[in-house]
Formats: sequence, C-alpha cells, structure tokens
Amino acid sequence: MNQDHLKQLAAHKALTFIYDKMKLGIGSGSTVAYFIEALKNQLKEKNWQIYASFSSEKSKQLASCQEIIHLDDSLETPLDLYIDGADEIDSNLFMIKGGGKALLREKLVCHASSNGMIVILDETKLSKKLGNHPLPIEIIPFGYKSTIRRIEDLGLKGSLRRNKEGKMDITDNGNYLFDLTFTSSIDDPIELHHKLKNLLGVVETGLFFHVAKKALVAMNDGSVRIYE
Ligand code: 5RP
Repeated sequence: MNQDHLKQLAAHKALTFIYDKMKLGIGSGSTVAYFIEALKNQLKEKNWQIYASFSSEKSKQLASCQEIIHLDDSLETPLDLYIDGADEIDSNLFMIKGGGKALLREKLVCHASSNGMIVILDETKLSKKLGNHPLPIEIIPFGYKSTIRRIEDLGLKGSLRRNKEGKMDITDNGNYLFDLTFTSSIDDPIELHHKLKNLLGVVETGLFFHVAKKALVAMNDGSVRIYE
C-alpha cells in the first residue's frame, strides 16, 4: 500500500471521534488534508456542524464550508479535541512535528484542547527513539545567525529551511525554521526541548510530549492500530 493510501486510512479512522457541535482543533499537513476532506463529507452527510481552530492558514482554507464554523485565532474557547499528524513518533507517543512548518501554532492549538491530541499517521513514522526525522526549531529572523550559533554551541547541527526557489522559508508567524539533524537518536527529548527553549531567539521546538492521548497508525496490511 502506498503512503498516501495509508495516510487516508488513518485520517478516516479519526472520523469516529467527531460529534455534532464539538469544538475541534485541526492540525496541518497532507494527512490532515485527507482528514479535512473526509470530515467535510461526514458533516454534510450527518447534517452536523462543528467549531474549529486551525494550526495553519492552509488548513483553514481547506476547511472552508458551511458545516465548519471557524473560531477566531485567540484560542479563547477551550477545544474538545485536537487532531493532527506527526513526522515521527515513539512508544511514549512523544513526537517530532513541524515538517510542514506549523509547529508553533500546532503546539498552541494542541494545548488549547482539554482532551489532548489524537495523532493520525502511517507506520513509516513509528520509531523506537526519536531522531530519524529532522527536528524543526522555529527561530526569530532578527539576529538569526547569532541564534544558530547558540544552538550549535550545544553541539547540534542543522540547516535553515529554504523553499524551492532557494529563498528562506517563512512560517505563518513570520519566523525562520532551523532543521536539526542527528547522527544518532535523541536520548532525552524533554531535556533537549528545554535546553533549546532556553536559548535567546528560539521561539519553539518541534518536540511534542505528554499531549498525545492516542495514535491512529495505518499499517501496511490495511489495518489501523491504536496506540495509547
Ligand atoms: C506540520 C506537521 C505535520 O503534522 C507533519 O509534518 C506530518 O505531515 P504529513 O501528514 O504531510 O506527513 O507537523 O507542521
């Protein structure tokens, strides 16, 4: 089964967590795009309406329809649930996210959810220990070279994310992304997150922990396993 098909499977499974009038946080990425498509169909079929907050402008656009009422970006209203993908996940349901540039808003929307997050992904993203996928760090543009020096002073290596035209990639928040790469796995993701967050110029890291309640993992044999 190809990866897109697996992403669709996981996305469809997440529909079982949707109910009328719920307040939902919706993440970003290609798996979430499949989820939004399926969600729109389900809401129409059942004649339901939901309220939603989004972690990216792109998801917001994809979810434009009568059945999804967009909450404003203040995140004042607590959400019932957050559904999003991930780039890599370990057996503690710790994750690397931000491959799609949206890690900061993803973390904010995720933390606005009273019942945490349900992760939708395929089995290629399962990992014993995090560090196979690059770890995105959102940094502010002002003084970015000095911020990168502080990151490298921790013994870490990475590169600034650029778009297809070779220009600096900019997040929805107007920031840059520095993608860390690892030669071996990350020993202690929580400690690494805190070390990075303490650095001047770092806004957020793509390490997510203690937020995922369930992971819906589409397997090559066509089943969807639930990890919790
Ligand atoms: C975006 C994310 C996505 O959830 C992650 O990159 C997975 O994306 P995809 O579903 O396209 O594989 O963190 O910032």
